[in-house]
Amino acid sequence: MSRLRSFLFVPGDSENKLAKGLGSGADALIIDLEDAVAESAKPAARGLAAEALKGPRPAELWVRINPLTTAHAAADLKAVVHAAPDGIVIPKPDSAADLARLDGLIGALEAEAGLPPGRIRVMPVATETPASVFSLGSYTAATPRLAALTWGAEDLPAAVGASVNRMPDGQYTDLCRIVRSLAIAAAANAGVPAIETVYPAFRDLAGLRAYAAQGRAEGFTGMMAIHPDQVAVIGEVFTPSPAEIAHARAVVDLFAANPGAGTLALDGKMLDLPHLKQAMRVLNAAG
Ligand code: COA
Ligand code: MG
Repeated sequence: MSRLRSFLFVPGDSENKLAKGLGSGADALIIDLEDAVAESAKPAARGLAAEALKGPRPAELWVRINPLTTAHAAADLKAVVHAAPDGIVIPKPDSAADLARLDGLIGALEAEAGLPPGRIRVMPVATETPASVFSLGSYTAATPRLAALTWGAEDLPAAVGASVNRMPDGQYTDLCRIVRSLAIAAAANAGVPAIETVYPAFRDLAGLRAYAAQGRAEGFTGMMAIHPDQVAVIGEVFTPSPAEIAHARAVVDLFAANPGAGTLALDGKMLDLPHLKQAMRVLNAAG
């Protein structure tokens, strides 16, 4: 997978936003057919999504379909799979079993359209139902299409009857903090990137920068956006700085120069295997 730092949500029923999204510089767009589209607008949104997929792709084009528990899901897939989206975002799965079902649905439509099997990737919003919290370990065996895993801070609080997802001081509630951490672990457990959830206050770019930087430090490798202004900030935060790259290279070079050494010193600090792994991850992210 090419490196995906920023995913920009674009409501599927807005031609104007679809056009704007393509020029936003995002690594991927997520054309939304779910929560950003009213019931009455879903058929039109499917049509616009399919049209967009036939046009130029300055960014990867992903589509968020409706949950598999709704009748919309099959219609969404039927409308877009033949146009070969780069990926499908699946909201509200309960576990990897839902991804296996999705895999079957996509596979049948790929075959019908004569597309190479398995090329369309999937990313679950893996923490949106109460059941999902207890099955985050299941994604190891989900489907070879699994390309990344993300989480959401809106739907789960609503599903458990919470009226807030943040505390008065702005910190997430414990429920959100727990599933955010579990999402990072679930992604690592499944061997795929963890993608940070959206930052809804889209005028507050300083707040976004701080939030995204914290997410990157905790293990996320990219983040979803809801507004074009957020894309550049996310791209910057999730790209290693020259200083980080220089340090990572020094760590890797030091281990290479000392084959067989388990632990080494650099600038008065101890280095061992986790530091080497982290340095290699930084160099990998630098491309
Ligand atoms: N993708 C593409 N273009 C977008 C955009 C997005 N997500 N959000 C805003 N724009 C466009 C606007 O249409 C506007 O274009 P215009 O100048 O041609 O009218 C321009 O960027 C500036 O937008 P702005 O006026 O700052 O914001 P807004 O009030 O029009 O929109 C939202 C605010 C929140 C409604 C909008 O950002 C949005 O729809 N975000 C996506 C929501 C979504 O998909 N949610 C589901 C996942 S959580
Ligand atoms: Mg939602």
